[in-house]
Amino acid sequence: MKPPASPADVIAAVTHPNPYPWYAALRNGPPLVFDEHLRLWAASRAEVVCEVLACEALRVRPPAEAVPRAIAGTPAGEVFGHLVRMNDGAPHVAHRPPLQRALAGLDRQAVHAAALKIAAGLPAAPVSDLCFAMPVCAVAHLLGFADDMLLRVTDWMRDFVACLSALSSASQLQAASEAAAALMMRFEQLVSDQPAAGASLLAAVQAEVPGDGSRVTLANLVGLLSQTCEATAGLLGNSLIALAREPGLRRKIGSRAELLQPLVDEVARHDPSVHNTRRFVAEPTVLAGMPLAPGDAVLVVLAAANRDPSLNPAPATFELLRAERRMLGFGHGPHACPGQALACTLAAAGVQALLADGLDIDMLMDRGWDYRPSANVRIPVFR
Ligand code: HEM
Repeated sequence: MKPPASPADVIAAVTHPNPYPWYAALRNGPPLVFDEHLRLWAASRAEVVCEVLACEALRVRPPAEAVPRAIAGTPAGEVFGHLVRMNDGAPHVAHRPPLQRALAGLDRQAVHAAALKIAAGLPAAPVSDLCFAMPVCAVAHLLGFADDMLLRVTDWMRDFVACLSALSSASQLQAASEAAAALMMRFEQLVSDQPAAGASLLAAVQAEVPGDGSRVTLANLVGLLSQTCEATAGLLGNSLIALAREPGLRRKIGSRAELLQPLVDEVARHDPSVHNTRRFVAEPTVLAGMPLAPGDAVLVVLAAANRDPSLNPAPATFELLRAERRMLGFGHGPHACPGQALACTLAAAGVQALLADGLDIDMLMDRGWDYRPSANVRIPVFR
């Protein structure tokens, strides 16, 4: 079969069947490349990605548009505006550490066991639906939702995350706002129902900020679900693809469930779910020797940086037991993902549950998959 044409640009690369040779060429070019059509600078080398993500002259949102105009003044806009992911400076410094400490304190074995139990209670087909539902249900469970609410929360979350994408229609944004309002109300109830269940993530957040039922805290609890949703669905789906197409991988893993964790870790490097993130220039600065001015935007191509040979030897090779694996797919610097360990635990449990349920990987390969339209997340939809 003829190989597909190269991606048209760095956004099309996210959902391209194999963007990695194109990413390698991008990385081997100038350290920052301006795309006239997208009006974006692209950074793809590991060293430059780290420089961009650590630069204090850049912001996570355009300085003149803290909340996207399309949702400003709506419940979705309220949640968006409070998220640590979408703020710099004082609000970020105040609200990130409690979340980070709560996530760092999770018992991975207990999370894994809870995720397996949740996966067993979900329909295993269509596979792509389970990839979405299982991680969100597991985090909703950790956040104190009752079992009979988990699928409801997943539906709200799938609606809510539409407000994070510039590709969404007016009706999707309307649904996102309704979901945001419903989730805020539910979290308000959960937080007021003291005390939260023993070892839950909600209890850990509450221990960090006792008695805090503020709108910011509630919004950031919603944020834990939204940060989980698409990115972990992509990691789980891309792990199934690796099992299908990496030669000898299934044989190597065999029935050793403990190897599913390194599988997912290597997928997060080799074929990650989050391909890029953005930064916006707030003050004149110089990056990789290039002067940038307020109004400029930089696309940080994490998926290209993940395969930079300066991070790992033989970066294009899928190595299950790679020694001292380094990656940038979970970001870097002040906004780096605090949920990496949780995400990888959930994805490994998801693969384990699907295999235990008899998922036929060859059939998955034969039927094929497409990638969901997205400007930054690579999520397979199995046919
Ligand atoms: C495979 C799954 C995941 C991937 C690939 C991923 C990736 C990322 C990346 C790249 C960032 C930084 C974005 C930037 O700097 O612009 C980020 C931020 C964040 N992630 Fe994750 N993430 C995943 C799952 C999770 C999970 C499960 C949670 C928690 C339940 C989580 C919580 C967060 C939070 C709160 C932030 C914002 C941190 C801040 O701005 O200080 N993530 N994630």
